[in-house]
Amino acid sequence: MTLAHAAVNQSSQPIVGSHPLDPLTADEIATAVALVRAERQVGDHFRFPSVVLHEPAKAFVLSYRLGDAFEREAFLVLLDNETGNTYEAIASLTQGKVTSWLQIPGVQPNIMADELVECEAVVKAHPAFRDALAKRGITDLNLVMVDPWAPGNFGFADEVGIRFSRCLCYLRATPNSNAYARPLDGLVPVVDLNKMAVIRIEDLGTMPPPPEPGEYEAQFRSEFRTDIKPLHITQPEGPSFDVDGHHVRWQKWNFRIGFTPREGVVLHTVGYEDEGQLRSILYRASMAEMVVPYGDPRPQHYRKNAFDVGEHGVGMLANSLKLGCDCLGHIHYFDAHLTNSRGEVSVIENAICMHEEDYGILWKHTDWRRDSAEVRRSRRLVVSFISTVDNYEYGFFWYFYQDGTIQYEIKLTGILLCGSLAGSPKYGTVVAPEVNAINHQHFFCMRLDFDLDGSANSVYEVNTEAEPMGPDNPMGNAFYAVSSLLQTEQAAQRIVDPLAGRYWKVVNPTVQNRLGQPVGFKIIPGDTILPFAHPDSPIMKRAGFMAKHLWVTPYAADEQYPAGKYPNQNPGDQGLPQWTQANRAIANTDVVVWYNFGHHHIPRPEDWPVMPTAYSGFILKPVGFFGASPAMDVPPSPRQQASCH
Ligand code: CO
Repeated sequence: MTLAHAAVNQSSQPIVGSHPLDPLTADEIATAVALVRAERQVGDHFRFPSVVLHEPAKAFVLSYRLGDAFEREAFLVLLDNETGNTYEAIASLTQGKVTSWLQIPGVQPNIMADELVECEAVVKAHPAFRDALAKRGITDLNLVMVDPWAPGNFGFADEVGIRFSRCLCYLRATPNSNAYARPLDGLVPVVDLNKMAVIRIEDLGTMPPPPEPGEYEAQFRSEFRTDIKPLHITQPEGPSFDVDGHHVRWQKWNFRIGFTPREGVVLHTVGYEDEGQLRSILYRASMAEMVVPYGDPRPQHYRKNAFDVGEHGVGMLANSLKLGCDCLGHIHYFDAHLTNSRGEVSVIENAICMHEEDYGILWKHTDWRRDSAEVRRSRRLVVSFISTVDNYEYGFFWYFYQDGTIQYEIKLTGILLCGSLAGSPKYGTVVAPEVNAINHQHFFCMRLDFDLDGSANSVYEVNTEAEPMGPDNPMGNAFYAVSSLLQTEQAAQRIVDPLAGRYWKVVNPTVQNRLGQPVGFKIIPGDTILPFAHPDSPIMKRAGFMAKHLWVTPYAADEQYPAGKYPNQNPGDQGLPQWTQANRAIANTDVVVWYNFGHHHIPRPEDWPVMPTAYSGFILKPVGFFGASPAMDVPPSPRQQASCH
């Protein structure tokens, strides 16, 4: 029996015990690190870039039944700072031993949060850096901020094999001021992160920091608008969801919440309870990579191409959320357990927020002849987390709706990445005096392992075409949708076409709804764009997945990240562009859909000093998955029964 056909557990008894997909607990992380330390002579010169659940095989999870025995395994990435070598280990928590230990040549693991702290400290202590500051008339180190950045890979011979960072520097107006408002443009410390030593201080020209402090904190503002009355959200009977460990049920939705330091929230086994059956939709869904290429060609700026998932880890950088500020209503929080670079357990409390929101009207019709209005309120379940990646904040939001729709939305806020400039910039926008906010794009890559009513699925592209005017279309009004099966990986590399009403549809060709149509879900693109970087540019080599909005691959357990497992300092040609050269067949098979969306950002003065939230995302909508609207059983609200008729 597969998940697709599992009977819904109707009992109110909570399911007890952990599940094979539960993230590692703090104890499990500590045990895994201890096992590796004991068995592999891992000394103080090792760091732990990542300690996560080694997810069990998909086939095992799909056949797993409550009470079945299962093995818990941790997957660890280790970095030896003395040799620069990277290792991957698997520690079996069930067997109490390390079952796999591999050296991975020629890679650099992700950047770790405490590397950033150590890096800033060594830069600030370095005489050449202090000299460069003195040249700019800066003597107070407390006002200086050093932001270590992943350096990318631009083919320079002297960078091969060195784990390093190129830092951006800023000068606060006062110790509590907005650091990002005053870049020290052109001052670039370069640091060897294994030796944790300054390689050199690049000085690409002295530009004075911009004059305004760019303050945004409440402490710097004396007046606020005074006409906002309280708005309370109350749920006197509590929320409508049930949570058991990491398992969530909300109305008919049924899924598991996971979390990794790399991707943040991961959704597992997303299903919908339909007439007593739990129908599977997604086996696993996450944002598997994101890249932010900047568009200024100067040497202190062309390096800015952060891979915020693969290099920095949006999970590792997740905020601890605050009730009433980040989230309103009856909230269920999930903590995240991870490690610092020394393998010590760290906990991000309230890292994931789950709550319900009123979302306006679900459906309505008024029969005006009978003066009868029928209306239903829409409610959605929100699962979110927010990461601070240096200057920027990203909110990552999954929404589940009562009509079977799933939405994914990124909320972009925080502070623009700027250089300093007098005059009119070509590759940016002046957002404050002498502050040049640089043009950039944000690309987000979703890995969507669809299992619609079972694992064997197919993907179609649907375009709308106009019928030519003629005897069959005398008034020229006719149009129709054309579905084309995407048969191979290379045929499935597609881009958006809004004027063709283009969307992509995942179906199970062997399961039909009551109308005889294959059950399906469609991907409805939202805000999206393609990169402006040249196809031969280093960044397009490293993040080749950005060139298409859609990719489809047959499921492979080791194909998790579209720019490869280790994008940090990687020269490129990894991940999707490499895998899909095999041009594997993808029809009626276990497919993984990779959907990329891009947010184009030519900055505005109104984005300063902190950007009002911008939104970007896409929608997964059932298309024939149900035989009719699944939202007809949503009851009228109590007030409607009393007075809306
Ligand atoms: Co932006």
